[in-house]
Amino acid sequence: MTAPQRTDLPLLFTPFSLRGMTARNRIMVSPMTQCSAEDGTLLDYHYGHYTAFARGAAGLVCLEEHAVERRGRKTYGDAGLYDDKHIPMLARIAEALRALGAVPGIQLGHGGRKACLRRAIDGFVPLDAEDAAKGEVWWEAVSASAKALAPGWVVPVPLDAGGIAEVVAAWAAATRRADAAGFDFLEIHGAHGYLIHQFLSPLTNDRTDGYGGSREKRFRFALEVAEAVRAAWPAAKPLSFRVSAVDAIEGGYGIEDAIALARALKGVGVDIIDCSSGGIGGVPTLRGTRTPPGYQVPFAEAIRKGADVPTIAVGLIYDGPQAEAILREGKADLIAIGREMLVNPFWALAAARALGVEPRYELLPRTYSYWLNKRRAQTGEA
Ligand SMILES: Cc1cc2nc3c(=O)[nH]c(=O)nc-3n(C[C@H](O)[C@H](O)[C@H](O)COP(=O)(O)O)c2cc1C
Repeated sequence: MTAPQRTDLPLLFTPFSLRGMTARNRIMVSPMTQCSAEDGTLLDYHYGHYTAFARGAAGLVCLEEHAVERRGRKTYGDAGLYDDKHIPMLARIAEALRALGAVPGIQLGHGGRKACLRRAIDGFVPLDAEDAAKGEVWWEAVSASAKALAPGWVVPVPLDAGGIAEVVAAWAAATRRADAAGFDFLEIHGAHGYLIHQFLSPLTNDRTDGYGGSREKRFRFALEVAEAVRAAWPAAKPLSFRVSAVDAIEGGYGIEDAIALARALKGVGVDIIDCSSGGIGGVPTLRGTRTPPGYQVPFAEAIRKGADVPTIAVGLIYDGPQAEAILREGKADLIAIGREMLVNPFWALAAARALGVEPRYELLPRTYSYWLNKRRAQTGEA
């Protein structure tokens, strides 16, 4: 028998269903590359890192971007799903997340021209002779056009029709591996200046064939990827697409383009749009210290209303009341938390306390809640 739906809960703590998936609440851990994989394979470090968020009561834990091709990695530390050898560790993590009550999710991506870089914590700058001496050499990168991000960065080889078909097939193969590993939520990384975004943005796509020129032609690669992923992903499992809602650079792509793209993606079976921004010209997402809280929430709202599709809000969302207001005001359906989860993997518990959700310790595993409830009864803790 299922428990009756509670009506006294803040929206943040109500279950969220999409296709056959139900998350226990609307808190998602945003994908965050750790740049610590070995030839794409995650390590015990990642097992501890990800399971902490599930123990901390997040509803959906979305693993970091996994490259669908080896050449689609940005750094030698990127995670990957371009080989069956990656599956066993991912299956261990997915199973543990599920056992702890969270939906296991994963993001797939391809860096395109943002390749041959040092790990993020080493500056995310092109590999140099010092790196080459350690065996970390440049490889051939691909993109929509032969345009380097900046002087000194790799000049990518433009994908021809056969090359595009090969990359689309790699997306489908990685999707099948994600399903085999037991993930129930998959996100396509279409943002932050990576390969899909390189096709979408007029700043990085100057093709004159069927994949460049008009907006529809620039959208074509993203839609082919989404269609191939949807076909390889079970119908009962939801599919998300992370978009950079605006390039925020002169001559770039804007919110109206993102709304049109979201509509087209919905048409090929994408269920929810994760609304980020920027990255086409430089370091992705991480903005200056003066960026205001919730700065990307207006994008989630505009796409939700303009394309009539569920959205995920992300970016400088700090606490439960801020997250709850976004949901109450109808601006998004899920709240993704990135860096605050690094501050406190038990972010959901803190949000529950701030929003007065009781009995709050019941959100945690029984091996924790038993002792915390007992302490509370003994001390009269508020
Ligand atoms: C260490 C780190 C790694 C990240 N890696 C990814 C990634 O793999 N995929 C992605 O779409 N965004 C990535 N991001 C962006 C986050 O998912 C998120 O959108 C961003 O940090 C803003 O949210 P926040 O203010 O809650 O951190 C990363 C951010 C950080 C801090």
